[in-house]
Amino acid sequence: MIKVLFASSEIYPFAKTGGLADVSDAFPFALKNRVDISRITPLYSFMQKKSLKPYESFVLVVGETDYEIEIFTQTDNGLVTYFVEAPFLSTTPHLYGDATGDYPNNDLRFGLFCRAIVELSLRLGIEVLHLNDWHTALSALFIKEFNLNIKTIFTIHNLAYHGVFTYSTLSNLSIDSKHYNFEGLEFYDRVNFLKAGITYSDLITTVSPSYAQEILTPEFGCGLDAHLRHHQKKLSGILNGINYNTFNPQSGLDFPYDNNTLENKHKNKVAFIKQSTLKDPRIPLFVMVSRLVQQKGLDLLLESLEEFLQKRVNLFILGEGNAEICEKLQTVAQKHENFEFLQGYDESLSHKIYAVADFLLMPSRFEPCGLNQFIAMHYGTIPIVHAVGGLKDSVHEQTKECGKGIVFENQTKEDFLLAIQRALEFKKESKKFKATIEFNMECDFSFTHGSLEYLKLYESLV
Ligand code: ADP
Ligand code: GLC
Repeated sequence: MIKVLFASSEIYPFAKTGGLADVSDAFPFALKNRVDISRITPLYSFMQKKSLKPYESFVLVVGETDYEIEIFTQTDNGLVTYFVEAPFLSTTPHLYGDATGDYPNNDLRFGLFCRAIVELSLRLGIEVLHLNDWHTALSALFIKEFNLNIKTIFTIHNLAYHGVFTYSTLSNLSIDSKHYNFEGLEFYDRVNFLKAGITYSDLITTVSPSYAQEILTPEFGCGLDAHLRHHQKKLSGILNGINYNTFNPQSGLDFPYDNNTLENKHKNKVAFIKQSTLKDPRIPLFVMVSRLVQQKGLDLLLESLEEFLQKRVNLFILGEGNAEICEKLQTVAQKHENFEFLQGYDESLSHKIYAVADFLLMPSRFEPCGLNQFIAMHYGTIPIVHAVGGLKDSVHEQTKECGKGIVFENQTKEDFLLAIQRALEFKKESKKFKATIEFNMECDFSFTHGSLEYLKLYESLV
């Protein structure tokens, strides 16, 4: 079996800020019987060290400094995860930054992580190193620089996050300045980690076929579209999936259900509405569970909100992120008894919200894949999505394909409100609505299919 190391800066349930953590949970488990796969991730200060086993320690000489690295392990259902404890990386209270912004030494934190990934790959005899997003991207450069016989595949989960630092990063991380050019990792007089991943990895994937096309255009390319077009031969798009053990309507709910016991979904809704500030459980419930950032279409939602709330709807939003967006949502929520906004991050509540809702809103401006729509459909909740990126590939209104929902083409208030209208009319056709829920709940949104596509890529490399 091919020996693979999957490197990610977040893995659910150890650390999570978004979908990357979910994929790092779902994907390796889906593949573990077909390849010899293990995972590597930082040991953050908030993690429980006592449940981990010390594995190995080594010193990395970077620049003029010796850095002590400790590796810990944990095995879950036959899947080994390696945790990297390193100076700076493991001492911050959060993953990437706090309310004041990103940690200024993220270059050193994740640069050391990348060196540790390469060192452990060598020690484990890894054949394929699977890197994810900018936090792991420099590993591809180090592998080329040290002339190692390890193949790399780099998955872009979100092109909007680059990991950009000043020129001094090169000497801090002992990176030869020969890489500091347009073809290498230089980006507008800065050092760009994501660009290094694109340049130096053997293959590049992103998380849906549509996003793989979109990022080649100036509109979605975040300044890297020309560079991606140059490396287009290495690029493909594979749709994500979710872990059915993690997201499961038969666990963690007051009234567990499946597609034969949908009356329990309604019982959960009634109980939820009672506990919330919302009033009537008979009214269609729209929800959103999201990072509250521009990507997720919050500007469109805010622009449409007053008109939306005039309809016979209940709205519940769970999210955290941009302070200004949160403030605006709070102000509107205070004025309307059919809208509750809960600011914060709450994993178990999020599962309940997917379970109790009738509709999930995803008006994203761009969406590399999106996992919420899969989770929602698996819980029998109908997604309403903007036709972009992975949403376009996974939710269909006109065709009979798996994944049925409401899709709007243009990211405008008119199209969004028309989609809401279609949703409300659809809900009134109760037989058809129920049949669609049942249909979606039978669809396979797990990583089984996607992981087989990755397997083919691994096989092409060795
Ligand atoms: P992204 O990675 O861009 O945030 P995804 O749709 O890929 O978007 O994944 C988001 C994941 O994070 C989902 O599992 C979603 O349920 C979860 N999530 C987002 N915001 C919250 C929140 N406030 N509380 C709990 N879970 C959240
Ligand atoms: C990113 C994207 C999201 C995707 C997730 C997992 O955070 O924003 O669309 O689903 O990564 O790949």
